[in-house]
Amino acid sequence: MIPPVLILFSSFLCHVALAGRTCPKPDELPFARVVPLKTSYAPGEEIVYTCQPGYVSRGGIRRFICPLTGLWPINTLRCAPRVCPFAGILENGTVRYTTFEYPNTISFSCNTGFYLKGANSAQCTKEGEWSQKLPVCAPTTCPPPPIPKFAKLSVYQPLSGNNSLYGSKAVFECLPQHAMFGNDTITCTEHGNWTELPECKEVKCPFPSRPDNGFVNYPAKQVLYYKDKATYGCHDTYALDGPKEVECGKFGHWSAQPSCKASCKLSVKRATVIYEGEKVNIQDKFKNGMLHGQKISFFCKNKEKKCSYTEDAQCIDGNIQIPKCFKEHSSFAFWKTEASDVKPC
Ligand SMILES: *[C@@H]1O[C@H](CO)[C@@H](O)[C@H](O)[C@H]1NC(C)=O
Ligand SMILES: *[C@@H]1O[C@H](CO)[C@@H](O)[C@H](O)[C@H]1NC(C)=O
Ligand SMILES: *[C@@H]1O[C@H](CO)[C@@H](O)[C@H](O)[C@H]1NC(C)=O
Ligand SMILES: *[C@@H]1O[C@H](CO)[C@@H](O)[C@H](O)[C@H]1NC(C)=O
Repeated sequence: MIPPVLILFSSFLCHVALAGRTCPKPDELPFARVVPLKTSYAPGEEIVYTCQPGYVSRGGIRRFICPLTGLWPINTLRCAPRVCPFAGILENGTVRYTTFEYPNTISFSCNTGFYLKGANSAQCTKEGEWSQKLPVCAPTTCPPPPIPKFAKLSVYQPLSGNNSLYGSKAVFECLPQHAMFGNDTITCTEHGNWTELPECKEVKCPFPSRPDNGFVNYPAKQVLYYKDKATYGCHDTYALDGPKEVECGKFGHWSAQPSCKASCKLSVKRATVIYEGEKVNIQDKFKNGMLHGQKISFFCKNKEKKCSYTEDAQCIDGNIQIPKCFKEHSSFAFWKTEASDVKPC
């Protein structure tokens, strides 16, 4: 005899076995997809996990059948990105990357003085290959430099192909009578062009005018140009104020305009003075007067302290102020002590 309870229980089991429970929508796995994908599956239905393009299976089961319990077994499938091969080394450049995995991008750049010949980036494709070939960093060159008007090259050494490498220099010179504006040296830049060219311009200077009490000499030409020179001189007792030689400058002006200045007659007949650091007798040294610009120091007495000090006087265009403190002794007053012989204060 079978107990009725057991009969009931086994018929329940039978019912479960036949009808079963439906399985739910399967768990999502990173970078994988399920075929077929539904919201529920009858017991016995099969699903297959496959890795998405660009990803490969790293172990685990991929095929499952919905069991009578209605619970999908634990899925251990792992989908990992494909890894592209080592991209290589870019000579005279840099490869920038995070990883070589799908779907990452690597980028290329060249060192200064080199330019990229090829793609500036590449992507790791679904197939695990780079989308672009490794580029090349080629040296930057500049074409032969353009020559400014009225100029010529004074220094330039091209490569054998007539071009110049990044960083090379060329130096210009202006033709005679022309002055340069800008830098005489140009450099081949990283962009493959030259830095800014200088300009050469014709420069004329007016004829220099003769100074009063003097003369000026310059080339006997119709026109005076850049770099031409003129020389100045003064008549007898006059002295040149300024350089003897002047030059026509790049802006059309002479480098200086010297003039002739009168020399000074000295009212003092006898005195010991300091001239250029030395004690001299004024009557010997400045017999013919003092030239414009010359400077002497007179000795004066401090009566209270019985000592001497000096005061300066300079000849300016025929005028000289003798210091008030200076006292000239008559040549007969031989018993008086000269200030220059008194001890300094
Ligand atoms: C460029 O690369 C080549 C080969 O590695 C090397 O000989 C050369 O020195 C590099 N040039 C510069 C400027 O780094
Ligand atoms: C370089 O320049 C010279 C003179 O201008 C020319 O004769 C020669 O053909 C050029 N060479 C190249 C490779 O361009
Ligand atoms: C001219 O350019 C060179 C480099 O190209 C630089 O070294 C120099 O200082 C420049 N000279 C002047 C006067 O600007
Ligand atoms: C050289 O080329 C660069 C980039 O094209 C540009 O910015 C620059 O102005 C050029 N320089 C000269 C002097 O033409």
